Order: sequence, then structure tokens, then C-alpha cells
Amino acid sequence: MPLEPIERASVDELRALQLSRLQWSVRHAFDNVPHYRSAFAAAGVHPDDLKSLDDLAAFPTTAKDDLRANYPFGMFAVPRSRVVRVHASSGTTGRPTVVGYTKDDIATWARLMARSIRASGGSPGDVVHVAYGYGLFTGGLGAHYGAEELGCTVVPVSGGMTSRQVMLIQDFQPSIIMVTPSYLLAIVDEMERQGVDPRATSLRTGILGAEPWTEDMRREIEERLGIDAVDIYGLSEVMGPGVANECVETKDGPHIWEDHFYPEIIDPVTGAVLPDGSFGELVFTSLTKQAMPVIRYRTRDLTRLLPGTARPMRRMAKITGRTDDMMIVRGVNLFPTQIEELILGTPELSPHFQCVLRRSGRLDELTVRVERRPEAAPAVAAAAARSLAGTVKDRIGVSITVDVLEPDQVERSMGKMRRIVDERG
Ligand code: DLL
Repeated sequence: MPLEPIERASVDELRALQLSRLQWSVRHAFDNVPHYRSAFAAAGVHPDDLKSLDDLAAFPTTAKDDLRANYPFGMFAVPRSRVVRVHASSGTTGRPTVVGYTKDDIATWARLMARSIRASGGSPGDVVHVAYGYGLFTGGLGAHYGAEELGCTVVPVSGGMTSRQVMLIQDFQPSIIMVTPSYLLAIVDEMERQGVDPRATSLRTGILGAEPWTEDMRREIEERLGIDAVDIYGLSEVMGPGVANECVETKDGPHIWEDHFYPEIIDPVTGAVLPDGSFGELVFTSLTKQAMPVIRYRTRDLTRLLPGTARPMRRMAKITGRTDDMMIVRGVNLFPTQIEELILGTPELSPHFQCVLRRSGRLDELTVRVERRPEAAPAVAAAAARSLAGTVKDRIGVSITVDVLEPDQVERSMGKMRRIVDERG
């Protein structure tokens, strides 16, 4: 399928488009959202100051708390009557953050999701099984509109009822599944339980995201299902899924759809903008959103910006974790993704795991709960767990406990997996 012209545009053309769109977006936010008007004034900046893309660094960042403080509709830049849909992100504590879309915003989102599915290897006529949750979460409806826009046949299954997911995959013969990587693993386990060969299904492609997952997890999923597993990234505040998507031909990190979202990497502590290639917190400014523009929104996701490959637009490296998922255990910082990599390198242990944090005196302790693979005998899995703890000590420099559970004993999720269980009280 041919690419859209902007997907082939030179970096110079792209930067020129970004600057004019950025100037519009910043002014739109300033003119219509009281929060931005006062935040800009407090920082001593004005939309007229934005003469180059680099000038954006002088503008204040926006945090999730700013959205919460303006709950529910205070960040909207258009009259409520022009908002055709709202979504909300669940937030584990307190109020959710609410986002809104005009008709044009929904159309843009559908086009970017269609672009994402195409980049993943999909084309018109594909049957797409959507197992992301439908509802206030952006995953289900975002995938749904994009697949329809591309001309696919959508099966809007949503999450849950895992045995029925397996039946529908066998009966409807989808070539594409859109789902979180952790729930896809639960579906694969269910196939095996039912005696269905996961490699023999009609599935060719998985478009997987909404949670961090490692290259080792990609290999596990691709091998067990015999599919291409492609990374899709997004967040409700910036739009939903389809802010960035990997290209199947390179599978080297999601390309950011830079014609609609301007990315920066900042030092999460000082807020300073870092050069491309540096590791830090990803920040986005929306370039075309009408209902709810976001200016320098701090995602809390940690990654790096990399040059384009399959497309001229920049890529982001796979997310290492979120600033709020960083565990500090005996003074050492670590993320669940580091544990995931090591578990997936241990054939006796399954990729179903959770990190349990407890307090002992003034120090935090980490226990990793992980299931043995059904084919590994308990004693063999226990030995593998001891060696895993040793590897964590050697590679990450921290002592942890590994508890091996029986198959199916680690909590499953139908959507985003809860990797960290905080029992520190
Ligand atoms: O998770 C949107 C989405 C739906 C993306 C379906 C992809 C597929 P939120 O619920 O607002 O939106 O959560 C956004 O999820 O800031 C990341 O921390 C995480 N996240 C999303 N995609 C990825 C990914 C949706 N591919 C938050 N890799 C983001 C790692 C991801 N983390």
C-alpha cells in the first residue's frame, strides 16, 4: 500500500509543517484554555515568542495534575457542544483524567490509527480482532475506528472471556489482533489449554501496546504464535493509541507520527531539554488537536528519541518504564522491564510475573512472583529461580527474593498488567 505523502516528506519539510502547526496549537491553547493563559503568563512567555521549534523549550510543561485540577472539562479549548466524545484514563488514585475530541479530532485519530495498522503490515480487507478494552479506555475504540478507516473487517471483542476470544479467533479467522502483550499471552495459554496450536491460527500480526514490553517478550510472542509482534504507543492525554507505531519491516521502535505530535526528551528532575539520543522523559505537544490541545505534556514515560529508519519521522526506543514505576530497592533503581528481560531468559519460568514491594525497617524489599512453566518440574523451576536471583544481583546489583508459583497463580489482567504490587502500607 502506498504511503501518505507526509510519511515520505523530508525532515526539512516536516520541520516546516511542525513549526506552523505548533504556532497554531500554542495560540489555540492560549486563547481558549484559562490554564494555559495563566501558566504562560507565570512563565513570562507568549505565543508570539514561538519563532522556531527550539523556542518551545521556554514554555511551561503540563502535568497530569494540571489535568486533574481542571477536572472534568476545564482543559477543553472548544465549547462542550463541539465535543463529540470523551475518554478518561483510569488513574489508580483519585479522579481520572478526562480528554475530549471534536469530530475532526476523531477523524484525525482514525487516520493515524489506520496509518499505524498499515505500518504494522495491515491492509484493507484484513479481519482485525480488537481485544483492547472498549469504554472510557482509548484502546478499543481507537483501534476500532482506525481499522474501519483502513477498510478492515473489525471484530470488536474487547477484553475478557478468554475462552471465547480463542473461539472467535478460530471461527472468524482474523489476520490481525490488537491487544496488550500481557493479555495476548493469556490468550495463548488458553489456546494451549484447549489443545489449539497457537502457531496454526490465522493470525499474522499482533499490534501490541498500552504497557511496557521488552524485545525478549516480542521474541516469546512471535515464536509462540508465529506472528509479527509490532509495538504501538499512545496515551489518552495526547490522543490515545496511534501516537507512534513501529513499522513491521524494521521493528526498531515506534515511529512518532510527527506531523501531529511534537516530541521532546527532558531530564525528569531538572526539566531541561536533552538532545536526541539521550535517555529521559518523553514530552509531547499536540499540533492539530482541537478539543484538547496539550502543550509540553509530561508523559512520565522514559525512553530516547532516535533517527527515522523505515520513515523519516523520528522513532522512540521501547519504553523502559514510567517514572512512577521506578522501584528503589536498597538504594538501587530498577524497572519491571529489567526483571522481564531476565525472566524471559530463564526457560523454566513463564513470562507471567509481578514485582511485590514490601518494607523491612527503612528499606524496601522486592519479591518477584513468577510462575513456573507447566513443562518445568517444580524443583527445576526452584533452582532456576535461585539462579535468577543471582543474575539480578550480578547485573542490577540488588538482592531480591524470587517466589515460584504454580501455573495460573499470578494475577491475570484483561488489559494492562499490574506489574508492581505495593505492599509497603
Ligand atoms: O494505553 C493508549 C493505548 C491503547 C496505547 C492501546 C497502545 C495501545 P493510557 O491508558 O492513557 O493510554 O495509558 C498511557 O500507557 O503513558 C505508557 O506508560 C503506557 N503505554 C502505552 N503504550 C505503550 C507501549 C493507552 N507501546 C500509558 N509501550 C503511556 C510501553 C506504553 N508503554
